[in-house]
Amino acid sequence: MRVFLRGLSLNSKTKTIRQLSNRPHKPVLLEEATKYLAPQNGSRFIDMTFGAGGHTERILQENETVVVYCLDRDPAACSIAQTLSERYPNRVVPLKGKFSDLPTLLKGLGCTMNSFDGILFDYGASSMQFDTASRGFAISKNGPLDMRMDPEEQSLTAADVLAVADQSDLYKIFKVYGEEKHSKKIANAVIESRYLFKPLKTTRDLCELVENVCDKDRRHDMLKRPAHPATKIFQALRIFVNNELNEINHGILLANRYLKIGGILVTIAFHSLEDTIVKRHIQGNVNENSANILPLKYSTNTMNLQTSDFLNVINDSCWHQVNKHVVTPTIEEVEENPRSRSARLRAAIRIK
Ligand SMILES: C[S@@+](CC[C@H](N)C(=O)[O-])C[C@H]1O[C@@H](n2cnc3c(N)ncnc32)[C@H](O)[C@@H]1O
Repeated sequence: MRVFLRGLSLNSKTKTIRQLSNRPHKPVLLEEATKYLAPQNGSRFIDMTFGAGGHTERILQENETVVVYCLDRDPAACSIAQTLSERYPNRVVPLKGKFSDLPTLLKGLGCTMNSFDGILFDYGASSMQFDTASRGFAISKNGPLDMRMDPEEQSLTAADVLAVADQSDLYKIFKVYGEEKHSKKIANAVIESRYLFKPLKTTRDLCELVENVCDKDRRHDMLKRPAHPATKIFQALRIFVNNELNEINHGILLANRYLKIGGILVTIAFHSLEDTIVKRHIQGNVNENSANILPLKYSTNTMNLQTSDFLNVINDSCWHQVNKHVVTPTIEEVEENPRSRSARLRAAIRIK
């Protein structure tokens, strides 16, 4: 592991690195993200996906004058940010909300546009979310089919979607957000389960339904390990319940507003749906259609922003990508943390 911890003795460096890797969520591409963010004296950053705070704490340790605004919509992540703010007085600003809430949250603190040096997004769900059965994110843990990142603010759960969406919407959700080849058969089976009075309430119920539909289908993940046939259906429901892709799209538009010219955007994506949105923004290839992916018609989980608010800035590229090729984890990182296997990092400077 490359070490950027300036000003610390070798013993403290080793201890710090061990602390960072003992978290409930192991930060992915940690050194690479820190290198591109390059904290300088007095820099101000926004960690848009605080999680367990691995990236934030690494940034704080890199330069002791840096301040990090720490956003997350998950109440569990926010309480970790609160604890971190006590360990680093005046250097951590916890913010509870989603990407699209950022303008309201920052306005309340008197922060203006064009004023941040770096913004980091580490997309998707955290290990805390996956590893807690009662959150309903994981195939491997039986629990209620929930999947809300913010159970305090969101009302629609994954079980609700499976109970109320019609066949054609279920098909679209599975196809667009899961890229699942058996979307139609699985959507039909979900509708059938309603008529058979077998509501899908738990993660196990859903796994069994998909196993029955995809009986003979053997699948493997990127590490060639056997993958459960419901993997993509879980991903699709999670993305839909949390409106993830529309949030990512708005989040990058906001990053453009809140970074200084010359400020740096770092994104870590875990599948092509996320990475494609980032790539399109960096290339200046965003229009109203590509920015509005399956709006949530079943939910009260709305966003505070309209894409049309930004149409003046999205016709043309506002970014210069710094890394020529996406950065991926080393073999050592993937062995140590298999969840990092699909990570792709992009870094881009705001040029206008
Ligand atoms: C992969 S984890 C981040 C892990 C973190 N970098 C760390 O080192 O611990 C992603 C986090 O982003 C949060 N998140 C995802 N989408 C969000 C959104 N639209 N608004 C705010 N937080 C979001 C999730 O709740 C989760 O805690």
